[in-house]
Amino acid sequence: QQVDIDIEKIEKGGFPHFMLKEIFEQVNSIYDTIRGRVNAEASEIYLGGISEIIPKMVNAHRIIIIGCGTSWHAGTVGEYIFEEFTRIPVEVEYASEFRYRNPIVDANDIVIAISQSGETADTLAAIKYAKAHGATVIGICNVVGSSIARETDAGVYTHAGPEIGVASTKAFTAQISVLAMMALQIGHRKGTLSDELYKKYINELYNLPDKVKAILEKNDKIKEIAAIYKDSTNAIYLGRGCQFPVALEGALKLKEISYIHAEGYPAAEMKHGPIALIDENMPVFAIATNDNYYDKIVSNIKEIQSRKGHVIALVNDNDAQVKKLAEHVIEIPETLEYLSPLLNVIPLQLISYHIAVMRGCNVDMPRNLAKSVTVE
Ligand code: AGP
Repeated sequence: QQVDIDIEKIEKGGFPHFMLKEIFEQVNSIYDTIRGRVNAEASEIYLGGISEIIPKMVNAHRIIIIGCGTSWHAGTVGEYIFEEFTRIPVEVEYASEFRYRNPIVDANDIVIAISQSGETADTLAAIKYAKAHGATVIGICNVVGSSIARETDAGVYTHAGPEIGVASTKAFTAQISVLAMMALQIGHRKGTLSDELYKKYINELYNLPDKVKAILEKNDKIKEIAAIYKDSTNAIYLGRGCQFPVALEGALKLKEISYIHAEGYPAAEMKHGPIALIDENMPVFAIATNDNYYDKIVSNIKEIQSRKGHVIALVNDNDAQVKKLAEHVIEIPETLEYLSPLLNVIPLQLISYHIAVMRGCNVDMPRNLAKSVTVE
């Protein structure tokens, strides 16, 4: 019994839970995902697992991204990145819907299947459907030799290392890192992404680990904020642009480990009904980092405040406006817009972790959940 406890302590690297260990591992896991694949000096990206397919992706008329849960959220971030850099139309589908709805797929389609475990039954079935209809299927998996890795025509491993906590954290940021590398390489080949911006993004990828570290150093402050809202019965997460899928991911993290009901919304959608939910009992986590939507999210925050909602805002270090409006702000180092989901998700991972621990929940193995859903 004592040996087991010691082994578990070693496996957790001194952290109280695998989930916290994996959140903190993101300093290294993002670097491990890009290492050996992004050559900043030569401004080159090399993804060996899909090198033969890149020309086909460059000429693709459509890309369909499929996944479940957090992997679906990563795919939705991928839609914003791919369409911005490559101008190829992207559709993101829940694998469980795609596999049954008789979707229109043919040999001109590229399908990207995202799965941490590589064993999710719905995603595997969706891959088989797409292949049976002639599509070229690429996998983004974290487990080498997994069923999905073997079933797909080609793929890129995320190299995030084993993810034990049921709630996915470092796999999510690794998946987005792979999607960003793919979109950068294809956009640059197509000429839809300028050489200047391509190089800016490549250099910024290597700046991310230090920025992740800076966020993790705010863990105690984030824990204090979590303590204020640990007894909430509901929560809303808001984002715009590629922060909208980050809002969805933040809400899922809270739901699955603390059992608090939470919803993510594109911020502008609030006025089409959900704002009726806002009152003094509703915490609203708003992603208000610097991008093209900043002024609009500021007005969304004002709408929430005027209805007595409690706004906890994620802002960049130099923020001026939101700091005066929100009840709490968490400051995040600035990065380039389409890499910012990699940083903005981290405080949301920590908030859900701390709330779940304070509520006495089993953080690494939440009730009713499995790490890999290998059944329908
Ligand atoms: C995320 O925290 C959950 N564990 C769950 O939504 C998960 O992302 C989903 O089941 C997909 O798993 P996969 O990435 O292994 O396919």
